[in-house]
Amino acid sequence: MSAIFDTTEEYALMLDRRDSLGGFRERFYIPEGKIYMDGNSLGLLSKDAEQSLLKALDDFKKLAIDGWMDGNPPWFTFAEELGRKHSFLVGAGENEVIVHSSNTVNLHNLIATFFRPYGTKNKILIDELNFPSDRYAVDSQLRLHGLDPKTHAVVVRSRDGRTLEEEDIVKAMTGDIALAILPSVLYRSGQLLDLEYLTKEAHKRDIPIGFDCCHSVGAVPHKFSEWGVDFAFWCSYKYLNSGPGATAGLYINSRNFGKAPGLWGWWGCDKSKQFDMSPEFFKARGAGAWQIGTVHLFSTAPLLGSLKIFSEAGIENIREKSLKQTEYLMFLIDKLLTAEPYNFKIGTPRQPQRRGSHIALEHDTEAVRINTALKKRGVIPDFRFPNVIRLAPIALYTSYHEIWQVVRHIEEIIDLKEYESFPKERGTVS
Ligand SMILES: Cc1ncc(COP(=O)(O)O)c(C=O)c1O
Repeated sequence: MSAIFDTTEEYALMLDRRDSLGGFRERFYIPEGKIYMDGNSLGLLSKDAEQSLLKALDDFKKLAIDGWMDGNPPWFTFAEELGRKHSFLVGAGENEVIVHSSNTVNLHNLIATFFRPYGTKNKILIDELNFPSDRYAVDSQLRLHGLDPKTHAVVVRSRDGRTLEEEDIVKAMTGDIALAILPSVLYRSGQLLDLEYLTKEAHKRDIPIGFDCCHSVGAVPHKFSEWGVDFAFWCSYKYLNSGPGATAGLYINSRNFGKAPGLWGWWGCDKSKQFDMSPEFFKARGAGAWQIGTVHLFSTAPLLGSLKIFSEAGIENIREKSLKQTEYLMFLIDKLLTAEPYNFKIGTPRQPQRRGSHIALEHDTEAVRINTALKKRGVIPDFRFPNVIRLAPIALYTSYHEIWQVVRHIEEIIDLKEYESFPKERGTVS
């Protein structure tokens, strides 16, 4: 895709008029007086998600314990139902997706399942730009095996501090690697890795591979089953708009259904046997076996409404608009914010197939204060240490006019040296 844009406000308004997904914005609660560019960190509440949460509360109020079977949908199989409703977003087959627990907890279970060190094949391949929680999970799981993370976590280095080269990752897939865990989209730069290629290369070397898809599910279509990905995990509070701490998603390729989950709990039982209360674990067939404890109903229910929006909008349409929006944003940055005295750089790869849904706007000296000044003006981005302001236009609710306005705000903040009145320290949550 190579669209020709221009920098006028009229042009932004024209893009909005022609936007076939523009109507979805009305389904979301946009904080009053704000331009929200942080949906890659915490997606906004939709009316649909609110309704499904209120429905779950009402079922609880009226049905009490009968909600397990008589709730609409029944709570007992809620996670399975949401897994099915998720499948089209990630290209999963039957029973390959389950909604359960939190992202990092699911990762622990996946490592406990797929990391089976034997002989000298006893290391885990990761990368230096991955989200810290993944690293902590890998290190602590290595320790549980009595292995030293310093020697057994093989960390692929970035050449430029922003991105990873697939060829460097493949080079690191040596005979001692027993498992590879990589991000789909890098949380800081927004780079999208080639999951299909990495999966193919890992499998050539007999390495199971899984991906952290927190920054892609709901923004970038995936074809996990077609690509043969072993497993994937993601949160639901970013692009899936299901609220802070919403129940996370987990994919297991059907090829791996025969494996025993690393961590067992009764919620992973075959549903027909769960209430036999047998001391023996009869595991469910499918990703459902990777559940541990009781479904968190109120952290799960919003996803039902949210997924309805995705099924109406279509993930391919969302991706097409998202790419156009990020391309438009980069065009405006290139034209208006890169020369003196602005001095911004774009840290996100330019090629559509190499970027997710946010743009990393870099400023070497004043990123923190510019980020604060933006917030003061009602623009909500976020800051990632040391020099990145992340800007995420969300196809379902960000308008082109808002993108245009954000760039204008940044221009004015620099022109007026507005950032100088703010402290240089970042906030506790940035
Ligand atoms: C890429 C990525 N991985 C992992 C996590 C951690 O997820 P959780 O806190 O839901 O376990 C996050 C959280 O923002 C993330 O962005």
